[in-house]
Amino acid sequence: MAPTLRSYEPHDFAALHRLDQACFPEGISYSKTTLRYFLTLASADCVVAVEGTRVLGFVLSEENPPLAHIITLDIAEKRRRQGVGTALLQQLESNLAARGVRSVLLETATNNEAAVAFWQRRGYRIEATLKRYYLGRLDAYEMRKILPGIARKTGMQSGESI
Ligand SMILES: CC(C)(COP(=O)(O)OP(=O)(O)OC[C@H]1O[C@@H](n2cnc3c(N)ncnc32)[C@H](O)[C@@H]1OP(=O)(O)O)[C@@H](O)C(=O)NCCC(=O)NCCS
Repeated sequence: MAPTLRSYEPHDFAALHRLDQACFPEGISYSKTTLRYFLTLASADCVVAVEGTRVLGFVLSEENPPLAHIITLDIAEKRRRQGVGTALLQQLESNLAARGVRSVLLETATNNEAAVAFWQRRGYRIEATLKRYYLGRLDAYEMRKILPGIARKTGMQSGESI
């Protein structure tokens, strides 16, 4: 069965929280309270990749056009390097651009080589190093992408295949 992209639905919450716990070390992963806070922001967008009922990954952002901030991108370990992260990010960027976002920011740990390579491959550039950003000791890169201007459209259709 091919993975499908769709918008977050409240019944996804437990699976998203479990995945975030698996993707990041304690202290960097989000507590249930913090994850729920971000997911319920009026300015949040969350795209989920599913295969049947199984969540393979998700990307979560908040926006105040023309700016947006990626809060997290999490892919299940067994499904990495299969294009799921790229598909989620492309869908999110398309949603954001359709709402007038031009500039997307994120932070990622400088020692997260996979993530830094991923973001650079997707056109994100390092703007600054944020000293001791995580856990008071791990440095982070602040990275930014300027989205190409596109004609506005209504965003994603639910149930699109990757
Ligand atoms: C970083 C992450 C989101 C990438 O997701 P993914 O679905 O594996 O990424 P894709 O398959 O779409 O990869 C696209 C490109 O990114 C780069 N990339 C991805 N993972 C990489 C790795 N481990 N090492 C080097 N480059 C990598 C490659 O250029 C890759 O293209 P290729 O496979 O043709 O070489 C995933 O590894 C992950 O969830 N990590 C844990 C959580 C995390 O660190 N999130 C991001 C921080 S906010």
